[in-house]
Amino acid sequence: MTEDSNYAVTVRGLTKSYGATSVLKGVNFSVRRGEIHALLGGNGAGKSTLIRIITGSASQDGGTIEFRDRADRLRTEAEGRRKVAVVHQELALLPNLTVAENIALPHFSRGFGLFNRKWAIKQAHAALSMIDRSFADASLHWFVGSLSLHEGQMVEIARALASGAELILLDEPTANLTALETERLFSVLRRLTQETGLSVVFVSHRMKEIRQIANTCSIIRDGRTVIDREPMAGLSDTAIIEKMGQLSQAQAQVQERPAADISRAEGHGRLTIRENGLEISLEPGVILGVAGAPAGPQTLIDTLVGAARSKRWTVSHAGWPARFSSPHQAATLGSGFITGDRSHKGVLHSLPIIDNVLASRRIVRGSLFTGARESVECLDLMQALKVKAASIWDLPNTLSGGTQQKLLLARWLGVPSRLLVLEEPTRGVDIGTKKEIYQLIRQMAASGTMIVWWSTENTELLEVCDRVLAFNTDGRCAGVIERQDLTEDKLAELTGMAA
Ligand SMILES: Nc1ncnc2c1ncn2[C@@H]1O[C@H](COP(=O)(O)OP(=O)(O)OP(=O)(O)O)[C@@H](O)[C@H]1O
Ligand SMILES: [Mg+2]
Repeated sequence: MTEDSNYAVTVRGLTKSYGATSVLKGVNFSVRRGEIHALLGGNGAGKSTLIRIITGSASQDGGTIEFRDRADRLRTEAEGRRKVAVVHQELALLPNLTVAENIALPHFSRGFGLFNRKWAIKQAHAALSMIDRSFADASLHWFVGSLSLHEGQMVEIARALASGAELILLDEPTANLTALETERLFSVLRRLTQETGLSVVFVSHRMKEIRQIANTCSIIRDGRTVIDREPMAGLSDTAIIEKMGQLSQAQAQVQERPAADISRAEGHGRLTIRENGLEISLEPGVILGVAGAPAGPQTLIDTLVGAARSKRWTVSHAGWPARFSSPHQAATLGSGFITGDRSHKGVLHSLPIIDNVLASRRIVRGSLFTGARESVECLDLMQALKVKAASIWDLPNTLSGGTQQKLLLARWLGVPSRLLVLEEPTRGVDIGTKKEIYQLIRQMAASGTMIVWWSTENTELLEVCDRVLAFNTDGRCAGVIERQDLTEDKLAELTGMAA
């Protein structure tokens, strides 16, 4: 630990409005040198806005920001920001450049002279190796546009780690990572904070991770600071959730699901998935969890929704096409899909909220009609998912990250479907709303929909699934666990991600 105990950044009385919407209403926030500081709050509380203002990518209306150097001297804002690196909630990489170029470029854009390729490759390799050595060995010359969401996330984190920043702001960096990668990232952060006095701000909606990594926390609620720097150890989960204003939702008992009415559809509508001697059969109403590193689940899901053909899987649906030829065909035949890549494949950025929410319904109904009835339907769905928006005609980019995720969920809620395939459906959704989503999806299952639910958050799978198909880190099926045998240890063991 360095001797420094000063503050890397201090924010006082920050205000920010977008049009008539007041987003930050006098936020105080400060980060000490060498600490890992959890910045917490529900969806739309103002966390990402605060981060954008600290990094200078948005401007404040009022309030002050002070950056200090290691000797506790005040820096100018421009100087201070040069020592800040950020991992944004949505990936911000340049797709036509390679992994190495993406990681090293910020150095050169800051005036370090001509691009030195050899140096760049060395830097990028060292930074990526901290999280995943084999990925670092393989990927330096790949174009970033060809990476999966999860690989892109590792590149973003490596870019921040390689930047030489004294303050790193991580806005939900683990949302696309596996448990093993998250654990590696955490140990790198712990080491750097202790050895170099790096300060880290960590935003997450996963309570378990927050406890693992952060020593201090601040909470904002509705644009105001409600906890300003308190030790994590002194705050219970209940106290944190209460301060975020979500206690009643989070404590709502998830009702035991009535056993799905399987008799109604004996043999009918059953989905069978086979791979090398493994056979899983899904009856209507069953929630099948999928766990493990993305390589395995991705091929299964792509096959199920008709996004890609794979020789590996044999899928048969009683009374249905053996295989869908495209996600569109799947949707029209009653199979829903929520993509895990909300910003590139999910959200329709140039269409208003109402079109985003009703997209699947219109496809299923074969109608493009927008009438008054649709507005009511849209508002009902937004209310069910607690979507905070000024108007249904606003564009999705005026919504917070977790709120955009809710738009994708709303698309399939209550749409009668036989199968619903979910890729990390609660990514970035706050603790209170997550519980409500579990409840809503369970209701869909109870009405006879088969659900396939891929999640990297094991606690979520434990809470919602009837059985879980686990993949190991090589992408192979490691086994199926039935609900009565489902424990966190068992999942960690089968997925090869025991910490
Ligand atoms: N460009 C914009 N125009 C209008 N409103 C905006 C804009 N950007 C953000 N907002 C509003 O500001 C509020 C705070 O958003 P912000 O993204 O900071 O929330 P957050 O705490 O990061 O939430 P999440 O946990 O969902 O990521 C939200 O209500 C959002 O709708
Ligand atoms: Mg955010």
